[in-house]
Amino acid sequence: MKLENKSVIVTGSGRGIGEYIAKRLAREGANVIVTGRTARDIENVSKEINDAGGRSIFIKGDVTIEKDVKEVIHKTIKEFGKVDMLVNNAGKGLKKYIWETGVEEFEEVMDVNVKGTFLYMKNIIPEMENSKGLIINISSGAGKEGIPELGAYCASKFAVIGLTESAALEVNNVKIVALCPGSVDTGMFKRLFPGEKADLKPEEVAQKVADICIHPEKYRQGQSIEIY
Ligand SMILES: NC(=O)c1ccc[n+]([C@@H]2O[C@H](COP(=O)([O-])OP(=O)(O)OC[C@H]3O[C@@H](n4cnc5c(N)ncnc54)[C@H](OP(=O)(O)O)[C@@H]3O)[C@@H](O)[C@H]2O)c1
Repeated sequence: MKLENKSVIVTGSGRGIGEYIAKRLAREGANVIVTGRTARDIENVSKEINDAGGRSIFIKGDVTIEKDVKEVIHKTIKEFGKVDMLVNNAGKGLKKYIWETGVEEFEEVMDVNVKGTFLYMKNIIPEMENSKGLIINISSGAGKEGIPELGAYCASKFAVIGLTESAALEVNNVKIVALCPGSVDTGMFKRLFPGEKADLKPEEVAQKVADICIHPEKYRQGQSIEIY
C-alpha cells in the first residue's frame, strides 16, 4: 500500500476518469475524497471504495463555487488531519465551431475547467505548503494544440497549463504538474464524438495518476505530462 495515510481529493470523481482515479488511488491505500455535483454518483463511488476495503468519504461540491471548494478542503482536513494530494479532474467538454459557440457556453467551459482549477489551487496550496503536497491538474492533448470545433475547450485546457506552470514557480513545498491525455473513452468523449474510438481507456489515465502520486520525483515541477 504505497499511499497509506495520504489523503487525496479527486474532483469530478462520481463518474468518468475521476471515478477510475478515485478507485485506483484507494487501492494504493489512500484516503479518497470523492466530490462532484451529483450526490447519488459520489455516494455510490465512495461506497464501492469502502465496500472493497478502502477508505473514502464523499462531499458534494461544485468546483466553480468558492464556498463549496473551501468546504471540501476543510471537511477533508477535519476528517483526515491533512490534505496531501489533489487531482483537479472535474471538466466540461464542448464541441462547436467558435462562431456557433454561445457566450454562456464559452463561460461555462471556462468556469469549470479554468476557474475550478484556480479556486482549488488558491485554497489548497496554503494548506499544503507545510506538508509536501502534490497537485495534478487534468488538462488534455487539447491543451497542447488547437483542434477544430474545440476552440473553447482548447482555450480552457491551455489555460490549465498556464495556471500549472505559474503556480509551480510560486510554491516551495508543493509539486504541481498537468496531465494531458489524448482522447479517453468516457461519457464526455462519447457525447462529443459518437461512434469514434478513443485513444485511451480511463484505467490508463488512472494508472498514470497513480504513478505520479507514488513517484512524484520522476516528474519535473510544472511539467505537462502527455499520454496518448
Ligand atoms: N474524455 C476525454 O477524451 C478527455 C481527454 C483529455 C482530458 N479529459 C479531461 O478529463 C477530465 C474528466 O473528463 P471525463 O471524460 O471523465 O468527463 P465526464 O465523463 O463528463 O465527467 C466529468 C466529471 O466532472 C464533474 N463535473 C463537471 N462539472 C463540475 C462542476 N462544476 N463541479 C464539480 N464537478 C463537476 C462531473 O460530475 P457532476 O456533473 O456530477 O458534477 C463528472 O464527474 C476533464 O477535465 C476532461 O476535460 C477528458
